[in-house]
Amino acid sequence: MFILDNKDRQPLHKKIYSHIKKQILSGELLPAAKLLSVKNLSIELSVSRNTVEYAYQQLCAEGYIHSKPRSGYYVSFIEPDVFPAYPSNSITSARTVSKDTKTISFDFHPACLSPESFPVNLWRKLYVECLKEESRQLAFYGNQQGDFALRYEIQRYLSRSRGISCDPEQIIVCSGLQDSLSILAPILRKNHSSFAMEDPGHFIPKAVFRNHSFSLTPIPVNSEGIDLGCLQKTDSTIVYVTPSHQFPLGHVMPVANRLRLIDWAENVGGVIIEDDYDSELRYLGKPIPALQGLHPQGNIVYVGTFSKVLSPALRVSYMVLPYRLLDVYREMFREYAANVSLLDQRTLHKFMEQGYWEQHLRKMRNVYKKKHDAIVESIQQHFASQAHIIGQGAGLHIILELIGNSLNEEELIYRAQEREVRLFPLSSTYLHHNAANSQVMLGFGSMSSNEIDQGVKLLHQVWCLQEGVSKIK
Ligand SMILES: Cc1ncc(COP(=O)(O)O)c(C=O)c1O
Repeated sequence: MFILDNKDRQPLHKKIYSHIKKQILSGELLPAAKLLSVKNLSIELSVSRNTVEYAYQQLCAEGYIHSKPRSGYYVSFIEPDVFPAYPSNSITSARTVSKDTKTISFDFHPACLSPESFPVNLWRKLYVECLKEESRQLAFYGNQQGDFALRYEIQRYLSRSRGISCDPEQIIVCSGLQDSLSILAPILRKNHSSFAMEDPGHFIPKAVFRNHSFSLTPIPVNSEGIDLGCLQKTDSTIVYVTPSHQFPLGHVMPVANRLRLIDWAENVGGVIIEDDYDSELRYLGKPIPALQGLHPQGNIVYVGTFSKVLSPALRVSYMVLPYRLLDVYREMFREYAANVSLLDQRTLHKFMEQGYWEQHLRKMRNVYKKKHDAIVESIQQHFASQAHIIGQGAGLHIILELIGNSLNEEELIYRAQEREVRLFPLSSTYLHHNAANSQVMLGFGSMSSNEIDQGVKLLHQVWCLQEGVSKIK
């Protein structure tokens, strides 16, 4: 039942907006729940349709709800850690929401996509087609390494766009980086015990290899990616790298270093794990071919994902194993079943085979280029000479380096959150070296250009207030 508080002096559309937002955040309205139509809610509340429409538009713009053509408005899925901490076991309602609970209007998460960009209708069509055509297949377990037709499409795509040389039989369809590495770690544990990784770097490899009893060796990163001199001084024989767009700092490893890295692996009998997570999203210059293509017969494991361009919620990624490791994989994982739903794999196969993947890719590159340009422009406008940007030109995030900053990261994140701006701690990507307090990771995938600008502006205000009002322009 929708009761608007008459004592509340906010405009009507704002009251409706706030009421629904609270219902969503408290879990009273669950993801995928259908909202009353604009017409019905306007009748129920005796307000104009425009008023309801305005409230719904605002909720849409902020990602709380979305519209489906000719169907209506639905509650969107919101990442759980964006939710304020509501107790989940009580019948919490909007009435019990604490006054100081902060919602997030500007989310700089580094790995979220544009909420409206998933090709919903096309995906549904292809999915339904698969259901009709492949219904018999649903009675069986699919291929353990992943559907062959999908692996064939992935192989063709990797060869065309990343210079990867492999056969479909070397590809394993996985459900994300964590899944690939969880397969890889026990395979490598037979002959290796020390795992080197970029520092800063992604937290998943660190967690997976630690859980498989590897000793971890953090290797610092410089403007050319992982520091090869440091790597050579360690006794590690496995290294995890992101050479085409170092995560999180964004550096590109030059070809000379790639060749040196390959040399290192050959000399120590080592294995390179190349994570090419966002190679599709390069906005300046030409795409950088993958390291694997420089030495396809070498011990290079290549991992890639559909999370950056299609959807991180689908949980579909892939790993290319060199033949030497493929044999071990087949031996060790003989009894295992595939981790990705056959229907999702078949749908993705159709999506790729019919040319939609390349089309979607081109479209997304444009969408994210605009957002990338918007954040760069906004930083230049609001921060001017008070900051500079590291790692621009690719992916879904940049690093903002604050000049003369004396604030610590925790304080900055806390203050930003007070203004409904969510920052992701760069320090969580460091294993050993402390994150420079002056660096802030800013993802731009999930916000509109306008929201990006508002978020950067608020961040600048937060920083100026902490650092001294004189910096506010
Ligand atoms: C460095 C890195 N690798 C891989 C991924 C993709 O992981 P997944 O395929 O599990 O979604 C991400 C996502 O943000 C990432 O930042």
